[in-house]
Amino acid sequence: MVDALGVAVIGFGWMGRVHTQAYSRVRHHFPQLPLRPELVTVAEDVPGRAEEAAERYGFATATRDWRDVAADQRVRAVSITAPNFLHREIGVAMAEAGKHVWVEKPVGLSGEDARAVADAVAKAGVQSAVGFNYRCAPAVETARDLIAAGELGAVTHVRVRLFSDYAAHPDGALTWRYERARGGSGVLGDLASHGVDLARFLVGDIASLAADTAVFVPERARPAGATAGHALASGGEPGPVENEDYVNCLLRFASGARGVLEACRVSVGEQNNYGFEVHGTRGAVFWDFRRMNELRVSRGTTYQDQPVSTVYVGPGDGEFAAFQPGAANAMGYDDLKVVEAYRFLRSVAEGEPYGATLADAVRAAAALDAMAESAESRRWVDLPAT
Ligand SMILES: NC(=O)c1ccc[n+]([C@@H]2O[C@H](COP(=O)([O-])OP(=O)(O)OC[C@H]3O[C@@H](n4cnc5c(N)ncnc54)[C@H](O)[C@@H]3O)[C@@H](O)[C@H]2O)c1
Repeated sequence: MVDALGVAVIGFGWMGRVHTQAYSRVRHHFPQLPLRPELVTVAEDVPGRAEEAAERYGFATATRDWRDVAADQRVRAVSITAPNFLHREIGVAMAEAGKHVWVEKPVGLSGEDARAVADAVAKAGVQSAVGFNYRCAPAVETARDLIAAGELGAVTHVRVRLFSDYAAHPDGALTWRYERARGGSGVLGDLASHGVDLARFLVGDIASLAADTAVFVPERARPAGATAGHALASGGEPGPVENEDYVNCLLRFASGARGVLEACRVSVGEQNNYGFEVHGTRGAVFWDFRRMNELRVSRGTTYQDQPVSTVYVGPGDGEFAAFQPGAANAMGYDDLKVVEAYRFLRSVAEGEPYGATLADAVRAAAALDAMAESAESRRWVDLPAT
C-alpha cells in the first residue's frame, strides 16, 4: 500500500489541466513511485472554473482563493499554473506553508522573482520542480547523453529555435501575457526560457550573450471577459503590447562553444517549430519538437559528407519505456508533463531533486534578464557565475 500525497493545482487554464492529468496518470506509467497523488483541491480566479475542474477531474474541493490552499493541511504538494505575476507570491507562500512546489516556467516576472521562490524553497527544505518539459523528451535526453559521452567530439556551436504563431493573429486578445505587470517579459519568458533550459541541459552554462528584441504586433484588443490560453478578441478597446514578440541572441557557453537562440511568438506559418542543432568537432545532433520521437544524428570519423541517420527513440531512451513498448510508437506533449510529475513526486518521496528545479529556473531567468539588458544597451552581457 503506497502513501497518498495530497496535491493542489492553482490556476486552471491550459497548464492547470495538463498538470492535473499528469497527477492522474503518473502511477499508470510509473507504478514504482512510492506515492499516490490525490487531487485535494483546485484554486481558480474565474468564477465557476474551479468547481467545473473539480467536477470533471475529481478534486475533492474547489476554491477561488489560492490562500485557502496554503492553509489546507491536506495539501502537501502544489502545482502553480497561474500567470507569471503570481508565481512569486504563491510560490513563497506555499514553501513557507511547508508544501512542495511544481511551478510553471518562467517562475515570476524576473530573475529576482525566481530567486525569491528558490530561496523560500531552500529555507523551507521542500522539493521543487519547474515546467521545463522539453528536457523530458527521450530524444532530448539521448542527445544529451551522446554529447556528454563525446560522441560528437567537442561541441563547437549550437542553434536553438522556438517559432510559434500563437500570437500572430492581430485579433489575439490583449491578455496578461502582453503586459509587463502580469506577464513580465514576452517571448523571452514564454518561449526563450525553454530554449535557454534546453541549451543549458545539452551544452552547459551560458557565460555571456548579446541579444536583440522586437515588437511586431504593437497593439491588441482588450478581451471582453475571462480568457484562457491564446484566446482571440475583436472589437475590444485597443491597448499596447508591452513586451517583445521576438528575440535573437548570440550565446557564448562556459565551455567556449558558441550558439544562437531565436524565438518568436508571431511567426505566421510556424506551429511549435521548436528544436535544436548541436554541432561538434566530429558529429552533430538535430531535434525538432514536431517530430519529438526522432533524433537525427551524424557521427563517425569521416567529417566531410558524413551521413545523417534518423533514429526513432525507443525503450532505453529517457523514460520512453514507461509509455510505449517499442520504437516509433509516438509519445506526445502531455506525456512530457507525466515525466515531469514523476520526477517531482520522486523528489518528494526521496528527499532529493530529480529533473529541473528552481535552481535551473534561476539560471534561466538570469539569462533572460541578461537578454533584456543586452537588447536595451546593445552590448554583450556577462551572466553571473554560478
Ligand atoms: N511548460 C510549458 O510548455 C508551458 C506552456 C504554456 C504555459 N506555461 C506557463 O504556465 C503558466 C500558465 O499558463 P497557461 O497557458 O496555462 O495560462 P492560462 O491563461 O491558460 O491559465 C492561467 C489560469 O490562471 C487563472 N488565474 C489568474 N489569476 C488567478 C488567481 N489569482 N488565482 C487562481 N487562478 C488564477 C486564470 O483565470 C487562468 O485560468 C504561465 O506561467 C506560462 O508561462 C508553460
